[in-house]
Order: sequence, then C-alpha cells, then structure tokens
Amino acid sequence: MATILVTGGAGYIGSHTCIALLAADYEVIVLDNLSNSSPEALQRVQKIAGKSLQFIEGDIRDSRVLDQIFAEYAIDAVIHFAGLKAVGESQQIPLTYFDHNISGSINLVQAMQRAGVFRLVFSSSATVYGDAHPSPLNENMPTAMPNNNYGYTKLVVEQMLEKLAASDERWSFALLRYFNPVGAHPTGHIGEDPQGIPNNLMPYITQVAVGKREKLSIFGNDYDTPDGTGVRDYIHVVDLANAHVCALKNRLQQQGCRAWNIGTGRGISVLEIKNSFEQINGVTIAFEFAPRRAGDIATCFADNARAIAELGWQPQYQLEDMLKHSWNWQKQNPQGYR
Ligand code: NAD
Ligand code: UFG
Repeated sequence: MATILVTGGAGYIGSHTCIALLAADYEVIVLDNLSNSSPEALQRVQKIAGKSLQFIEGDIRDSRVLDQIFAEYAIDAVIHFAGLKAVGESQQIPLTYFDHNISGSINLVQAMQRAGVFRLVFSSSATVYGDAHPSPLNENMPTAMPNNNYGYTKLVVEQMLEKLAASDERWSFALLRYFNPVGAHPTGHIGEDPQGIPNNLMPYITQVAVGKREKLSIFGNDYDTPDGTGVRDYIHVVDLANAHVCALKNRLQQQGCRAWNIGTGRGISVLEIKNSFEQINGVTIAFEFAPRRAGDIATCFADNARAIAELGWQPQYQLEDMLKHSWNWQKQNPQGYR
C-alpha cells in the first residue's frame, strides 16, 4: 500500500485523517512541530486504529528535515495540513502567517520536487470565495480576495499550486475547500483541543457546557438570515477526514490541479446550533447577543455536488452526530489532551 506523509497530522483534522488512512491500509508518516497539538493525540490515533504510524517532530519550513524524510521513506503522496489557522491572530502577526502557511508550503513542494514526489492534497478553506458570491458556493465561481491574512495565505497557496500544475504535468494537487469542521471521533478519544479562548463556535459551546467559560457570545443577530444569526455549513470531522482518503485515491490516479468543496450543503444558524446542542445533549448554554464580529459574512454553505460526483465521497453524519460527538469528546476530556 502507498505511503503518505501527513504534515500537521497531530492536529484536529490531521489526527482524524490519520485514523482514516490507517483504516484504509496506508502507511502513515506524520510531520508536526506540535505548536498547536499534542503527541498524545497520535498515541490515541494508533490505539483507535489498532495500527502504528511514524511520527517525526519537525517543521515544514525546515528543508533538512523534509529531505531526510523523503530519503528515508518511499513517500507516494503528501497530505498537507500544517499551518496556522487563527483568523484574528493573522491580522496581528501577518508575517508569521505568511512564513508558516506560504513559505512552509513552498518549502514542502520544493522538497517534494527534489524527491520526485508529485501528489499533494492541500487543506484549503471556503474563505477563498471571499464574500463575492451567494451560497451555495460552487467551484466554478471565481475565488476572491479573503478579508483576512489567514484566508489570503490559503488563496496564495491555491494559486501557486495551480500555476505549478500548469507548468509541469507530473504534478497532481487536490485543493480541498473545507467549510466548518466540527465534531470528534465517535469514541470521544480524539477531538478539537484549542489553546486558550476558542475562536470557533463549537469548541466555545462545549467549553461553556463543561463550565470552562461563562457564556457564549453570539456575534450578531441582525444578519439577513432566517433568525438573524450567521449561517454556516458544519461538516463532521470524520466525514472531512474520509474526504481526504477519497481525494488521495483520486490524485494517485490523475494529474493536474482540482478544487473540491467539502461541506454538507446545508446552512445552519448559530442559534440553531446552540438550541440543538442543548436539546440533544440535555445541557444549557448561557448566551448573550453581542455585536457582529469583524470580517464575518452572513451566510456561507457549499454546493458539494462536485466532490460527491468526482471523489465518490458522501457525508455520512447528521448535525445530531456532530453535536453529540463534540460534547462526548469535551465531557471525557475537559482539559483536552492535557
Ligand atoms: P490544527 O492547528 O489542529 O492542526 C495544524 C497542525 O499543524 C498542528 O498540529 C500544528 O502543530 C501543526 N503545525 C503548524 N505549523 C507547523 C509547521 N510550520 N510545521 C509543522 N507543523 C506545523 O488545525 P486543523 O483545524 O486541524 O487544521 C488543519 C488545516 O486545515 C490547516 O491548514 C487549516 O488552516 C485548515 N483549515 C482548517 C479549518 C478549521 O476550521 N479547522 C477550516 C479550513 C481550513
Ligand atoms: N460565532 C459566534 N460566537 C463565537 C464564535 C463564532 O457567534 O464565539 C459565530 C460566527 O459569527 C459565525 C459562526 O459562529 O457566524 C461560525 O464561526 P466560526 O468562528 O466557528 O467559523 P467561521 O465560519 O468564522 O470560520 C471558519 C474557519 C476558518 C475559515 C472560515 C471560512 O474557522 O478557518 O470558516 O469559511 F477561514
């Protein structure tokens, strides 16, 4: 079976993808600098999968480490999760974001070229559509300048990979545009473990539920949406992980650069998320309405028809599972991996 290098494999989406890869009998090599993750996640991945993987602690910006990995292992393809992802922080320290997300990706692709490895699945984001189009968003719509530096790095890397693929037909890139990943592994043993105050809705809700935070602030209730709160496309992290295995199989067969939206196609409001979380899990989430958060858009959900048609992928989990599994993980691990 093929051997896959997974950068950022100890992180939230990476760890779930490692389980999916091991289940599909791939050999897995993880490179992660642990700047936003714990080695414990990979211990648990191996326990859940009943199989082992190789872990190398290192940075994608370090060419020496990359060359060593490509020399030591016969890597067939790369899944590239490593990077920084906090939208607000990217406005404070843009150069750090350019360094990890853009220079890091260039460094990785250069090492791949030196090693003769030409297949890569890239973690992109729905943010590359900017706020130029109405939802559902489809891949034929032109990308637009995101309104934050994090999103900008995703757009730059996407465009760079497109140009690279156009210059040399050996390259094969999948650009997976994630919508809003939530949920956790059904066992509750791995999940999202943000450092400090969570930026994203779901970990904030679970931390209120577990008593770590006092109340949820709902950013804006005057949007042009059915209940006035923001609408997003929440996708279970295990479905997202499985999309990587499907994209990998596709890329092992095909050349070029292709983008796929990975979402459920269903828009859900912040209030619906809060209310459903309370109902399904039997807990109360204290909340207040707060002003809109800078940079947020009213509505963002996917047209996922291309991924379903071309990747043979189909989301399996419902909103109820996402909410149940997020809570299951947080309840079992109130301090995350610590
Ligand atoms: P995460 O922070 O949990 O995982 C990223 C991993 O990369 C972490 O383990 C971190 O330690 C590692 N890392 C960071 N910089 C590194 C470097 N220079 N070298 C080596 N390792 C490094 O985040 P995640 O939610 O799992 O996201 C994975 C990818 O998906 C990221 O590229 C992110 O931008 C992208 N993405 C995430 C979301 C989301 O909402 N979670 C949405 C769209 C896209
Ligand atoms: N929200 C709140 N309160 C919170 C956190 C979020 O009301 O404490 C609201 C937001 O205003 C938004 C919704 O919940 O309406 C979802 O917010 P998230 O921060 O969870 O997710 P975003 O849609 O803002 O961002 C996600 C990813 C980014 C990606 C972006 C683009 O986290 O990486 O989607 O699609 F760039």
